[in-house]
Amino acid sequence: MLEWHDGDMPYSRAFDDHFYCRSDGRLECGHVFLAGNGLPRRWHQPGHFRIGELGFGTGLNFCETWRQWRSAAPAGACLHFTSFELFPMRADDIGRALSHWPEIERERAALLDAWPENPEGRITIALAPDIRLTVVCGAALAGLLAEESCFDAWFLDGFAPARNPEMWSAELMAAVFRHTVPGGSFSTYAAAGFVRRNLLAAGFTVERRAGFAGKREMLCGTRPAAD
Ligand SMILES: C[S@@+](CC[C@H](N)C(=O)[O-])C[C@H]1O[C@@H](n2cnc3c(N)ncnc32)[C@H](O)[C@@H]1O
Repeated sequence: MLEWHDGDMPYSRAFDDHFYCRSDGRLECGHVFLAGNGLPRRWHQPGHFRIGELGFGTGLNFCETWRQWRSAAPAGACLHFTSFELFPMRADDIGRALSHWPEIERERAALLDAWPENPEGRITIALAPDIRLTVVCGAALAGLLAEESCFDAWFLDGFAPARNPEMWSAELMAAVFRHTVPGGSFSTYAAAGFVRRNLLAAGFTVERRAGFAGKREMLCGTRPAAD
């Protein structure tokens, strides 16, 4: 199911798509998922900040988020990153993909050290005193329907909507909304009309912004503070 392009660029044959943009997935993460959710600006107070993600893939978004958290988080704050993933990758594949970026070598090494040999079920790893990673293996909708936590920010990263509509369905977007704290946010590189409509129908405010690397649009938005 996994192919490699240009040596270290993972490609899913099942979904006929790359895991992140071909120019620079790490910078794309900074633009789409971090800036799109107002991060690191919103990391300004002690306490827990909870990020939810649809599609853990190689863990690139997690590693880049952790890297930025290290320099931006206030004292006493903790980050809990929870991701929902149907096909968890093996450590050697994660390592191969992430080796592309020397900037996240420290995070890559720590993740690989702790990553289980046979990833399945609910994986929870304390990677540092202020960093916890949970990966819920299985279909995102089932995982989210059973999830008890709510999240401050969501990274919606489930392959191109046309190639994987299940990851952008009205039912899943409604479950994401129910698992977002009032005032919480989402962002995604996707800009398809049906994704935008499903997010609006779920209850989010939705804004269009300029996408990464010349992509015309991406979407971000919030769950209104009082609804
Ligand atoms: C674009 S990739 C995610 C990239 C990832 N965030 C990263 O940092 O590498 C999309 C991921 O969604 C997963 N996926 C696809 N359909 C899914 C589903 N129904 N439920 C959960 N995960 C799914 C794929 O296995 C893939 O790992």
